[in-house]
Amino acid sequence: SDGTFVPAVVVGTGYGAAVSALRLGEAGVSTLMLEMGRLWNQPGPDGDVFCGMLQPDKRSSWFKTRTEAPLGSFLWLDVANRDIEPYAGVLDRVNFDQMSVYVGRGVGGGSLVNGGMAVTPRRSYFEEVLPQVDADEMYSTYFPRANSGLRVKNIDRGWFEQTEWYTYARVGREQAAKAGVGTTFVPNVYDWDYMRREADGTVPRSALTAEVIYGNNHGKVSLDKSYLAAALGTGNVVIETLHQVKTIRQRSDGTYLLTVEQKDDGGKLLATKEISCRHLFLGAGSLGSTELLLRARETGTLANLNSEIGGGWGPNGNVMTARANHVWNPTGARQSSIPALGIDDWDNPDHPVFAEIAPMPAGLETWVSLYLAITKNPERGTFVYDAAKDRADLRWTREQNAPAVAAAKSLFDRINKANTTMYRYDLFGKRLKAFADDFCYHPLGGCVLGRATDNYGRVTGYKNLYVTDGSLIPGSIGVNPFVTITALAERNVERIIREDVKDSHRD
Ligand code: FDA
Repeated sequence: SDGTFVPAVVVGTGYGAAVSALRLGEAGVSTLMLEMGRLWNQPGPDGDVFCGMLQPDKRSSWFKTRTEAPLGSFLWLDVANRDIEPYAGVLDRVNFDQMSVYVGRGVGGGSLVNGGMAVTPRRSYFEEVLPQVDADEMYSTYFPRANSGLRVKNIDRGWFEQTEWYTYARVGREQAAKAGVGTTFVPNVYDWDYMRREADGTVPRSALTAEVIYGNNHGKVSLDKSYLAAALGTGNVVIETLHQVKTIRQRSDGTYLLTVEQKDDGGKLLATKEISCRHLFLGAGSLGSTELLLRARETGTLANLNSEIGGGWGPNGNVMTARANHVWNPTGARQSSIPALGIDDWDNPDHPVFAEIAPMPAGLETWVSLYLAITKNPERGTFVYDAAKDRADLRWTREQNAPAVAAAKSLFDRINKANTTMYRYDLFGKRLKAFADDFCYHPLGGCVLGRATDNYGRVTGYKNLYVTDGSLIPGSIGVNPFVTITALAERNVERIIREDVKDSHRD
């Protein structure tokens, strides 16, 4: 068939996608968003939309038979994971040979499962990573625009200092200070006022009942409540859920033709559709957008894509680690699942590290201090198309994470020494392991700005085809990435609408 025609299609509903759809909708362009995950707005049998972290059910995971939580073990007992029914759940763990990548699935993408930490990168590092982007413009216009669109807020310092829910963060700050390292408050999209009411017991708990990686039932301003709500509000944007884009080809008139599979939430194929459009925006995330373009290049449906597609991938230097505290230094049975502080050792000349003081909300005292370290790892991976499996495979070896582990070790060795404490070796799998170097939360790259695309995300070799998401960022940004992804998308789509889109959609 010729397919249904829409002026603009946006693939995915994460940060880059949501920004693009809102600005297209505001410009009067009829836009269809295609999202492989479901819409998370209907309560399950227990009355909640999302399941909790401590008793996960099928809503937790994207088509798995057992949950795959980041902290799979505790004292080497597999206590955190559960057998489940395969389902279109909210968190996916995409397992490659030597690296696993966590991603969100559903309307809102990663915003549904992430910690909400909304960090603007330090300008000097942004300039180092993306030297061709005008930093003046980013820091005066697009970072502020992103922070306001995402509804980023700061925690009330007075409340932070006295609440039991952030004992773990204050302990982490004190122990860093003993080693001469400073910390910084981290803004968030979680509604801090709501969290205070949770603590007061006047509203249902979310951050204060260990909800985060399988979704927050309350409090978090995920994209479905910010950018996507605004996009739908323009009246020009429609979202189709449980629709996965499989192939992209270009027709002789320059429009794009997509093959899209519609499934039910149990994974049964309902329909295979063809949808065509003039302007195509890929916002399927680092893994998703890169896979779509690699498949198109390697199967010849978009044969002119250049050799940069698939390159420049990195895990943003992610490494998790944990320390065991002395019995007189409890981190608290009550822990907010939303992080509030980061250890900022980015100016360290040998081993720059920005480490989130992460919660471990187990509901009982564990004496554990947990961290997600973001380091400056120069190693990069490459995606290659695996024809037999029809998927993008990641070439990345465990050894490539050695620089990240070395940086984290340098910081936490100093913190351990200053506090006469040790690492925990039992949290990251079945073998003794102090550093989780085999998974990440921050996949970046695959279609790098200025290499696979021009300086605004226009894909090289094709007109009216754009990449809008984390795949534009070359592997590292030094802080949690979604504010940067959002700001870059704001910058790029403004230019694209002005120069490429505006006149072609006058009806
Ligand atoms: P994103 O991954 O958000 O969205 C892509 C969407 O496209 C998904 O909804 C996906 O289902 C869909 N899709 C993919 N392929 C498709 C196809 N073929 N057809 C249709 N749809 C398709 N960052 C941060 O800044 N602060 C934080 O605190 C955290 N914390 C955190 C915790 C956890 C557990 C995770 C997993 C991640 C984080 N992150 C984070 C990272 C952050 O969530 C991530 O960087 C962004 O979500 C990436 O945004 P993108 O727009 O690139 O894609």
